Amino acid sequence: MFVKMEGTKNLVTAALPYANGQMHIGHVLEHIQADIFARFLKLLGKDVLYICGSDMHGTPVEINAKKAGKEPREFALKFWKEQKKDFSDYLAEYDNYYHTDTPENKELAELFYSRLKEKNLIYTKKIKIIYCESCARSLPDRFVKGTCPHCTTLGQYGDVCESCGVVLKGVDLINPKCSLCGKSPVQRESEHYFFKLSKFAGKLEKWINSEEADLQPEVKNWLKGWLEQGLDDWCISRDAPYFGFEIPGAEEETGEKKYFYVWLDAPIGYLSSTKNYCDKVAKGKCEWEDYWYKGKVHHFIGKDISYFHFLFWPAILMAVGIPIPTLTVHGFVTVNGKKMSKSRGTFFTAKDFLKEYSAESLRYYYASKLGKKLVDIDIDFEDFKASVNNVLVGNLGNFIYRTLSFIDKNYNGEVKDVVEEKKLEKEVLELIEEVKEGYNSLEYKDAINKIMRIADLGNSYFQKAEPWKNKEGSVGKVAWCANLVRVLGILIKPVLPEFSASVEKQLGVKELGFSDLSFGFTGKLGKVKILVDKIEKVPQSMVFPLDMKVGLVKEVKDHPGADSLYLLKVDFGDDERQVVAGLKKYLTVGELQRRKAVFVINMKPAKLRGEKSEAMILVGDDGERVELLNVEKSVVGDEVKFEGFTNNKKQITFDDFKKIKMLVNEGKVVYESKELKTSTEDVLVKGLKDGSRIS
Ligand code: 2FM
Ligand code: ZN
Repeated sequence: MFVKMEGTKNLVTAALPYANGQMHIGHVLEHIQADIFARFLKLLGKDVLYICGSDMHGTPVEINAKKAGKEPREFALKFWKEQKKDFSDYLAEYDNYYHTDTPENKELAELFYSRLKEKNLIYTKKIKIIYCESCARSLPDRFVKGTCPHCTTLGQYGDVCESCGVVLKGVDLINPKCSLCGKSPVQRESEHYFFKLSKFAGKLEKWINSEEADLQPEVKNWLKGWLEQGLDDWCISRDAPYFGFEIPGAEEETGEKKYFYVWLDAPIGYLSSTKNYCDKVAKGKCEWEDYWYKGKVHHFIGKDISYFHFLFWPAILMAVGIPIPTLTVHGFVTVNGKKMSKSRGTFFTAKDFLKEYSAESLRYYYASKLGKKLVDIDIDFEDFKASVNNVLVGNLGNFIYRTLSFIDKNYNGEVKDVVEEKKLEKEVLELIEEVKEGYNSLEYKDAINKIMRIADLGNSYFQKAEPWKNKEGSVGKVAWCANLVRVLGILIKPVLPEFSASVEKQLGVKELGFSDLSFGFTGKLGKVKILVDKIEKVPQSMVFPLDMKVGLVKEVKDHPGADSLYLLKVDFGDDERQVVAGLKKYLTVGELQRRKAVFVINMKPAKLRGEKSEAMILVGDDGERVELLNVEKSVVGDEVKFEGFTNNKKQITFDDFKKIKMLVNEGKVVYESKELKTSTEDVLVKGLKDGSRIS
């Protein structure tokens, strides 16, 4: 229900995700971070809107739609609905989750554009663009791939380098290829629309250094660097075919239809989603302009889209006369210290994670790690389990349950005759202020720590009171604990809204806010139950019995005591080992010399006919021929693993080794249908038929 409130209007946003695929737990971080802030402000009684939506236009959507054989609009609408559901399943309570392919967004994008034009901030210029003759189309942004000219990372799209974060132009890419057909494109000329970004360099610099911008130091450094490199004017148009809004008047001006680049209309989506909320959801009871011109707007974004949000977007806002929002940037989510990866079994879609764990367990874990400092957030599953089980369940959940169940069992659910604990209450009130400060300054981890301190206080108080020894005489003390439960239920609400709702229900109260943070509560409990369950299991990565590495054969000699054996000297980067290999019948010295191969390095060292063997070379064998495993592109010493497995580092015997069934399949090496890889390539074996053994 819409409630009109006094005071400053606040608007909180998370970035609008491309409607081009499933959300994963990394995406969810930002929507939880922003949601906690919005909920906190709402609990303070402020006028707050939490606004988001899906970003529907541009090549990220078009490319994936093509892969799925769908029209971009239909494809994006499907993911818009899914994303909306995913975020709501993680309890991100949007006032509006809209999208950018809407009449409101078209209207506002056109309005912005006409303002920029009026102010003489738009001009056209002929530029080189990339065109694929074989696909007969221009290749904007992600339709072209190549090497980043700044950091030389391979396989980058023509919009932004994922490795160094720099905004790219397709024509800058080294060795560009069409993402659709893989052929080399050509350059053509085309007339395009530019926004005079360069004119804003001075103003942006001033803003960056201003107190009100209040930038995170890491962000400030990037921005300074980018400004020092100089700002080019920004190309805001794209050639057909393009999924986006047509630029009004372009056909008359340039002779061709042109479309707004997705990054022009995407952030305007923040405004149009607000407008849609005010006009349609709240039925005209508010106006979007009140939030954007007079209120406080707070954007939460990921570090990968900093360039757009700290340069393009503020410049556009300056140009149209809208105040620049506050921006908070978070890092990426890693799992067990590494980038999430399907092959390591550490990639979780938002949906899949909920099959194993609760949304609130992730909200709690993220909150316990989030601060304002721009760092990556790691989900270490053992730590996740420990944090939920020992702190959330063991401390907070335990205090609430033991208090309420005691009252339920012994005092007929009545909270009464509350004692006064002046000293403790003072301490709690101080901690409450610190919790608020934690939320307000986005140091959620501090807020969580302080909440847990209060729960600690509660647990020790209960323990010391020993109410089970004198039930009659302890009514007031346990009632005091129930007051602390009420305080805790309120304080944790921005992070764990369902948990809090359950606390309220058990206390027999409703919809508490931060103004209810006080002592002196009495009442009758509702049904008491356990609030949160322990985590039983966490994903284990599978262990493969062998430890394998890429080694370089530096020397091949005949074994002095056996005709069929070679003695190899093998370099592993950090050490060198002697290997006895029974390959003389199959491979010549020349075929082994200076070759890279895969070695098992955790075999128990053995003496073979008097010579020590400290590793084992792996080969493919079809009964007649023997082939080395090809790892020529890999670095010496690189670990070789089956996808989804980690290598066992403990020593094993030759008998253990013989039980392991690695096979050749379509030129690859597989174990339990997983492929063998180094960090740079698939391990291949040439010329052996499927089913050949690796030994
Ligand atoms: O990186 C992305 O997923 C973009 N769709 C974010 C856009 S945020 C805002 F500008 F709309
Ligand atoms: Zn780069």
